[in-house]
Amino acid sequence: MGARMRSWSAEGSPLEAAPVHQPTAAAAMMPAETPKPSSTPMFEPQLLRDLDWSQNTVAFSPAISPMDPGDGLVLRPLCSADINRGFLKVLSQLTEIGGVSPEQFMKTFEHMKSSGDYYIIVVEDTNLGEIVATATLVIEHKFTHSCAKRGRIEDVVVNGDCRGKQLGKLLMSTLRLLSKRLNCYKITLECLPKNVPFYEKIGYSISEEKYMCQRFFN
Ligand SMILES: CC(C)(COP(=O)(O)OP(=O)(O)OC[C@H]1O[C@@H](n2cnc3c(N)ncnc32)[C@H](O)[C@@H]1OP(=O)(O)O)[C@@H](O)C(=O)NCCC(=O)NCCS
Repeated sequence: MGARMRSWSAEGSPLEAAPVHQPTAAAAMMPAETPKPSSTPMFEPQLLRDLDWSQNTVAFSPAISPMDPGDGLVLRPLCSADINRGFLKVLSQLTEIGGVSPEQFMKTFEHMKSSGDYYIIVVEDTNLGEIVATATLVIEHKFTHSCAKRGRIEDVVVNGDCRGKQLGKLLMSTLRLLSKRLNCYKITLECLPKNVPFYEKIGYSISEEKYMCQRFFN
């Protein structure tokens, strides 16, 4: 049985099967009251296991799925220990990360987790113990549409070495099914014009609405 199959076994979460890594020097310097990065997932991993992949509308060749993303790869919720597995390095290929201390990371992770509205998924290369791709679904609660929920896709990025292997498509297809499972009435995202063809390929269309913005700092 391959690493990815083991990681999805019924008896344990993929996180329990994740390789154990030595804490970095930065983690060792954290004050005592800061919770240590752990294998606690941001959301219940069972949610991903329960997705009905037969409802997926995007073609994959060769076939991959959330439970079987490729040799040595695991798709799972972000856990706080991923700060030591290059999660921020992957994100930095999308935008400016700035300085993020382990304390800040943990505080933000805990906030997102306890809100119940953040679904950050990652693909880990279990041979390297590194995160190679990530995408986020944020649930926005509304009074309109009979108090509906809207899904917002954020921070979609695949490590440079791993692009073109369908991982972007896989993350997006997983979050699409997850947003339907969470009863979102729609999902939206903002992207650069150069990425429009990628999103069009997987079923998104350009909205008439314009994306407006006031930036306060980077
Ligand atoms: C955009 C990105 C997430 C795509 O991930 P990926 O894993 O390389 O994409 P996939 O391998 O799943 O590609 C899926 C399909 O989209 C196409 N595609 C991928 N990136 C594309 C792009 N930028 N423009 C047009 N088509 C693209 C692929 O050719 C493939 O087509 P096919 O199914 O006909 O073979 C990745 O290039 C990336 O991380 N870019 C940098 C960060 C970024 O810009 N993120 C988007 C923020 S909005």
